[in-house]
Amino acid sequence: MNSYVFGKPVNKLIHGGDYNPEQWLSRPDILEKDIEYMKQAGINEATLGVFSWAMYEPKEGEFHFDWLVQIMDNLYQNGISTILATPSAARPVWLDHKYPEVMRVDGMGNRNRHGFRHNHCMSSELYREKVSLIIRKLAEAVGDHPGLLMWHISNEFGGECYCDKCKSKFQEYLRRRFHNDIEELNHEWWTTFWSARYSDFSEIEPPYNNGQTAIMGLNLEWKRFTTRNYEDYMSVEIDAVRAYSPKKDIPITTNFMGRFYGIDYRVLAKKIDAISWDSYPAFHNDFESYADTMFSAAFDNAIMKGMKKDKPFLLMESAPGLVNWMQYNKLKRPGVHEQFAVQTIASGSDSVQYFQMRKSRGAAEQFHGALIDHIGTNDTRIFKEVAKTGEVLSKLAEVEGSLKKNEAAVIFEWDNWWAIDGAGAFSRNTKKYDTVCRDYWVKLMEFGVEPDVISTEDSLDNYKLVIVPMLFMLKDNIAQKLTDFVEKGGILLVTYITGYVNENCLCYQGGFPGDGLSKLVGVISEEIDTLYPSDRNGIRITEDDTVWEVKDYAEILRVADAEVLGRYTDDFYKDMPALTCKKYGPGKAYYQAARCSLSQMDGFFEKLLKEAQVETKLLPAGIEYHRRYGKDSMFEFYLNLSEEVITLKDICGENMISGEQTDGSVVLEPKGYLVVKRTR
Ligand code: GLA
Ligand code: ZN
Repeated sequence: MNSYVFGKPVNKLIHGGDYNPEQWLSRPDILEKDIEYMKQAGINEATLGVFSWAMYEPKEGEFHFDWLVQIMDNLYQNGISTILATPSAARPVWLDHKYPEVMRVDGMGNRNRHGFRHNHCMSSELYREKVSLIIRKLAEAVGDHPGLLMWHISNEFGGECYCDKCKSKFQEYLRRRFHNDIEELNHEWWTTFWSARYSDFSEIEPPYNNGQTAIMGLNLEWKRFTTRNYEDYMSVEIDAVRAYSPKKDIPITTNFMGRFYGIDYRVLAKKIDAISWDSYPAFHNDFESYADTMFSAAFDNAIMKGMKKDKPFLLMESAPGLVNWMQYNKLKRPGVHEQFAVQTIASGSDSVQYFQMRKSRGAAEQFHGALIDHIGTNDTRIFKEVAKTGEVLSKLAEVEGSLKKNEAAVIFEWDNWWAIDGAGAFSRNTKKYDTVCRDYWVKLMEFGVEPDVISTEDSLDNYKLVIVPMLFMLKDNIAQKLTDFVEKGGILLVTYITGYVNENCLCYQGGFPGDGLSKLVGVISEEIDTLYPSDRNGIRITEDDTVWEVKDYAEILRVADAEVLGRYTDDFYKDMPALTCKKYGPGKAYYQAARCSLSQMDGFFEKLLKEAQVETKLLPAGIEYHRRYGKDSMFEFYLNLSEEVITLKDICGENMISGEQTDGSVVLEPKGYLVVKRTR
């Protein structure tokens, strides 16, 4: 497969989003207007059918797809393609009433009632049958439609089911995982603790809220199982699409949710053809700057991008204006929409899509932002901003299919996140594993270096610098992989709270970080101090006598054979080592024993990047910078995230928005951006 999301270049970036015409079938005037307005806004794609089951199959076995065919025809004739969802995310009432087993059971063991959405059991054979049937009918009705661009499986998978079917599947999953040997499980889960021993797999229950939650391995494995159950369920939908779709080359995706906690997306990613996700940053909040919000969104893009590095991803949903489900639903300020769209493309997406085209008149999302508001006109602020974005995307069409060539990587893993959070240690509120990973990622971005976000399963071969923040759970062979990386000349930074437990949450014996990683870094972490928010310590850097502020966590080290680069400034561990380095020819393994304020660590990162020979770029503060590489061109993206006017110097290439050649300075207003094309 080549790098294009759709298997072939379509010479455009997708600009579209969720469209729910089934809510307006009695209003042909509205449906007509929708298409007219979508065209005016440069919309070239509509995502259909996400919640249409009740309209497809109003009674069991009675199918109606004429309306869908009509809508897809009309869209297609007007240059708008369709991404077609399978409707499994919300079920018709008749289905739940007749077959209650399709509804989920909650963590207290109670069966849900019909309602809301995303409320089905992943194990129910009956649900799987019903879903396969509706997919079959859908594929037969519109599977060969010329406007069909892609299949979209269900919607935003999430949540857990604790029903008896899921429980049995969990037991079978454990039986396989622990080689049908209950004593192996008892050992790996350390169940002799609090008399938790099992004598048979059939005795194991999920960690019900009112049940067994004291076994770390059980809690972790339940989360892994839930991901696997989604994978298994999703495969049923994918198989149905593949079996019944007359066109075999239409790619399949499902929409992720960035740093969504409940599912290890990397497992699902392997089953789909393209990654897509829904991004809803809390713009203009009262807890972080605009730049922080934007960088978080970019980090999430990088996680998505990292799951399929050989292809662009899609931004399947975003809010054209405001959302309706946050604590405070604030308006996106003028210009933000456009800059966010360009950031998305800069991050490696080939689309900017929305939820939604037109606001629902009633029900739970009637006040959620849309291209077309209740006022019904095409002259609203939001409409104009979306239309402007459409123009911008058409000017960036050439970017389609281009990729990243990142030289640095930050490791971020879901099951490590679960394991850290599940550990009864440290502090309740300051573990913040995902934001720590984000912060390291953003730090490198400040040097004009965009790191990949990867898992320990990924190859490290293409990287020169790898950062391993808080890898509490060190799986088998990962220490060896990191060792190979350093021995081949790589620069590695490992932080506090790494290598405490194995993949079943059993503590490593013989010193942290375990499994031989302590040998690589040349230190052993003997104790860890958890600081209250008001506590302070510092690390004094020997080389330049600067002090980095320490907060939250400080490990006490025994140094075996590493060079000490910094020592604690306070408390009973004053003067003890806190930053070390062990050399392996050109390769180096650094160990950072405490959580520090990254803003004070610029000099250190500069050094790491230099040692790793990663290409950096001197950027004015407040500029976010990305690159994408096409066949013959390189695309550079500069975004001004600050409140100030910024002058960029030494810009050379074609300004893709103005079409002019630039050679010199470019002034960027706040929320401004520049996309430059350079021929390689
Ligand atoms: C999610 C869903 C959409 C819609 C939006 C609202 O992303 O997939 O159906 O509910 O949220 O923000
Ligand atoms: Zn279930």
